[in-house]
Amino acid sequence: MKILLSPPKYFDVMYSINPWMNPDQPIGKKEAREQWDYLKKRLEQEGVDVKLAEMPSPDLPDFVFTANAGMVMGNRAIVSRFRDKERQPESEYFYKWFVENGYETLMLEDDEVWEGEACMFPIAGHVLCSHGIRADKKAYRKITDFFRIPKEKVVYAGIIDPYFYHLDVCFCPLNENTAMYCEMAFDGETRAWLKQNVKNLISVSYDEALNFACNAIIVNKTVFLNKGASIELIEALHQAGYFPVEIPIHQFIRAGGGVKCLALYLDRWDNPTSD
Ligand code: ARG
Repeated sequence: MKILLSPPKYFDVMYSINPWMNPDQPIGKKEAREQWDYLKKRLEQEGVDVKLAEMPSPDLPDFVFTANAGMVMGNRAIVSRFRDKERQPESEYFYKWFVENGYETLMLEDDEVWEGEACMFPIAGHVLCSHGIRADKKAYRKITDFFRIPKEKVVYAGIIDPYFYHLDVCFCPLNENTAMYCEMAFDGETRAWLKQNVKNLISVSYDEALNFACNAIIVNKTVFLNKGASIELIEALHQAGYFPVEIPIHQFIRAGGGVKCLALYLDRWDNPTSD
């Protein structure tokens, strides 16, 4: 499996664009680097081929969260369009990265807000496309065309809680039929759809989701997630055939990002859901 990371050379909290961020509290830079290094090492031990995108500038301290670079399906990549001006310049660097690495790459218009894989996940023969807070519904017309996702496979997921401003902090697909999720983050329609369509839906409590438990990287049967998972969640994962591995990641949580936010799958979504 190939995953894109970005070494946290300039990682910091310099502004506040989500409820987790407080620029008055300095980041422990050394510890952040150690936490990131440990994540990278554990992924590599699991056989992951880690690719790197270097942070281009101290002015883009959130660049480290590559789940927001864009999304890759097969050989096609779509670059994120950020809601906040502080992150908007990241797009051109990620565009360059995708093009230089051989992807057929689409850049959305400025007003088609969508923040990459953090907003969109395949599950249960469909693709969950989140909207609200950091993604506009209108961006999905081009996105689903480019990824050749038929209309009937698109499920819009409304996110209603500002602490769960990206889909990847309240939802995590383990495989086609299994996912972790935090029910309270979603609107009623989405809750109902998930319950009806995802065979093994592991419900994560609100408090546990606030500890970024749903923000996990899945490699084979291993679930990389933040330190502090409850016995209940660990048991539920075991029962589903998965093994949790805890990665302390609290310096990044101070920017509103956990383990998954630091990673972009480059070959997990190999075949766009087209049949
Ligand atoms: N500070 C970053 C932001 O607010 C955190 C991004 C977290 N990324 C994610 N995939 N959820 O944009």
